[in-house]
Amino acid sequence: MRARLDTLVSAALQQGSAVPAFTCYDFTTALAVVGAAEAAGRGTILLVSPSTAATPNGLRLIAALRGLADGASVPVAVQLDHASDLGVIAGAVAAGADSVLVDGSSLPYEDNIALVLAARALLDTAGTDTVIEAELGGLAGDEDRAFGSDAAGSAPAAGTAGLTDSAQVEDFVARTGAQLLAVAVGNVHGKYHGEPELRWDVLQDIAVRTRLPLVLHGASGIPASELVKAAAMNVGKVNFNTELRTGVLETLDARTAAHRRDGENLQGLLAEWDVSARAFAATALATLSR
Ligand code: 13P
Repeated sequence: MRARLDTLVSAALQQGSAVPAFTCYDFTTALAVVGAAEAAGRGTILLVSPSTAATPNGLRLIAALRGLADGASVPVAVQLDHASDLGVIAGAVAAGADSVLVDGSSLPYEDNIALVLAARALLDTAGTDTVIEAELGGLAGDEDRAFGSDAAGSAPAAGTAGLTDSAQVEDFVARTGAQLLAVAVGNVHGKYHGEPELRWDVLQDIAVRTRLPLVLHGASGIPASELVKAAAMNVGKVNFNTELRTGVLETLDARTAAHRRDGENLQGLLAEWDVSARAFAATALATLSR
């Protein structure tokens, strides 16, 4: 069923839970994620990468995810992830995204605020009731590709991501009017170089400065024993991408030959894709739920 992202996340936080969000590059993965959420009786979030949304077929995928979310038996939101291009934001919202991460975190502070306000003005003019997540503090890493730790210059070392400056939080929240706040507390996109070193002290300092639900990106590779602590720090949304892709790709590597031998059985292979993505989503839902 259709759900406002901020309502979904706030309701989860009230129960001591967080809501997992999963990047979906395709409909098979989205079906698996929603199936896992329905089986768990929990809400979830389907994320669309800006590189997907920037293409005509990506906009068609968003429309398909919109239909999937609305028809689900649990609350499901569809969010455009990490967007900084106003044209892509407008297109994705028109196609059916109900929320956007307006990401100016790589920009100077004032420009970050200006980008969020420009997106809000655009969406208000379009007459949409779109939930905006904003990001303060840049995350290292690539959103769509995870590089191995031996790829020179690619994998960010743990602890090297730009941390959110907690002293800016109150001003940033007040001036942007964002409904959720993504933070950088040692989390990175893609694979961690070594063990993740989350700065819970920084997160706690942020959490006391705003009542907005916080968002933890780059959750792949963070152990469940760490993720379970998130909701207590007002982190109500946790984003996963790399680990979900890794599982699907491993399944395809391992099982494609067998399905080729079985009469070029694409349907059988897709069923195994579903099992992999569904299992990952089910584990994340269980980890974050109280
Ligand atoms: P990972 O690829 O590190 O899981 O990050 C996902 C993410 O933050 C999507 O916004």
